[in-house]
Amino acid sequence: MMIYFIAAIAGIAGFLFGFDEGVIAGALHLLRGEFAISPFDEGLMTAAVPLGALGGALLAGRTTETYGRRALLLVAAVLFAAGALFSAAAGAVWMLTASRLLLGLAVGIAAMVAPLYISESAPAEKRGMLVSIYQLAITLGILGAYVVDFAFAESWRLMFLMGVLPALALLIGMYRMGDTPRWLALKGRTEEARLAIARIRDLAPQDPAVDAELASIRQAVQQRTRPGTWADLLSPSVRPALVVGMGLFFLQQLSGINAVIYYAPTVFKESGFNSTSTQILATVGIGIVNVAMTFVGMYLIDRIGRRRLLFIGFAGTALSLGMIAIAAATDAEALDILATIGLVLYVAAFAASIGPLPWVMMSEIFPLKVRSLGMSVASLANWAFNFLVVFSFPMLVSSFGLGGVFAVYALVCAAGLVFTYLLVPETNGVSLEEIERHLESGRPFRTLDAGPVRVVTA
Ligand code: BGC
Repeated sequence: MMIYFIAAIAGIAGFLFGFDEGVIAGALHLLRGEFAISPFDEGLMTAAVPLGALGGALLAGRTTETYGRRALLLVAAVLFAAGALFSAAAGAVWMLTASRLLLGLAVGIAAMVAPLYISESAPAEKRGMLVSIYQLAITLGILGAYVVDFAFAESWRLMFLMGVLPALALLIGMYRMGDTPRWLALKGRTEEARLAIARIRDLAPQDPAVDAELASIRQAVQQRTRPGTWADLLSPSVRPALVVGMGLFFLQQLSGINAVIYYAPTVFKESGFNSTSTQILATVGIGIVNVAMTFVGMYLIDRIGRRRLLFIGFAGTALSLGMIAIAAATDAEALDILATIGLVLYVAAFAASIGPLPWVMMSEIFPLKVRSLGMSVASLANWAFNFLVVFSFPMLVSSFGLGGVFAVYALVCAAGLVFTYLLVPETNGVSLEEIERHLESGRPFRTLDAGPVRVVTA
């Protein structure tokens, strides 16, 4: 039971991540009415979250080794609460931008430390499922934000203020938790590590199962050689993994997903929805599709394999974005209907495929020695491209119109098909060690071939 409690607490961190991404969507039109915002300022204020997250992710890497997972999650909870309060009280656009930068810092820390906290506490056989709960929590956070936007449609201050509640839940929950056994062992605090294992597994501290787990953690800690370096990451045998890891995040973000997540009501407005409440209601619909299709993705990922799911995702997003672009460019009569269908299809294809896959694959493709470095570089790529898209969107729309911008995103998704075909390996059912051996053999990464049959023999 305890382990589910742990996952729930860390899942709140994922929820906050999604909440702070999504909440701006319903607030923008109110802010535009109250302050004179240029497209540049609007882009910067909105994109302050991914920008701050870039800083948070950079900061968290080292500090979590020194101070522990729990301490960093507590700091993130305080920053989440402070950011929500400051943004609710902001008197000018620059104050909002600064508060969102603070929220971003919290998002960046939480997005890195919470999955780590879960995976270091979870028993191996439940790890995949528990880490995907975190993914799901992000989409639930986005939906939660849209519902809050709808419920407090008149007050952007109340929308932002609501972020305090999950932040307090995280603070109180984490305050009562201990750190992970692995981190405690890393610090030489062996007896505390023993108690932590006993608590998580609901066993007595002297139970032989606790001894066994402690011994295996201590062995892994002692065997830890020097951490991987940048030179290792760029070495010929690791480079193909780096290209796939960063490339998938480039494609995920440049597919334009966050132009939709952060600006959904604006997109609906541009697509012919006239009333603000229908724009926000349609946005809630997008949030629901995003959550529902994440379940579908989780179901399919180990069944039909990564490559096939990516092909479906990129084909689906390219076609649906193309549909919106054509409708917008031709000013079609039924623009709002076409755009709505296009957007729903787009989010559905994204959520089942391009959403979860880069996160899953980033944890599979890097050899052990550079796994954490590789993962942090890949997730930094995620934040950097996320920032680029969210920051540029208002300016691009005001210069080229929605049709032009979505046409570019459609082309990126089409390029994703080629990228997948040429470079992405099928990792389904292949053990992490086999992936590592394949990279070392120098054969093209893409030729790593497996079928479900290998699961049995691996
Ligand atoms: C992406 C986020 C995006 C979210 C939407 C995630 O996989 O990394 O940038 O906002 O999906 O659900």
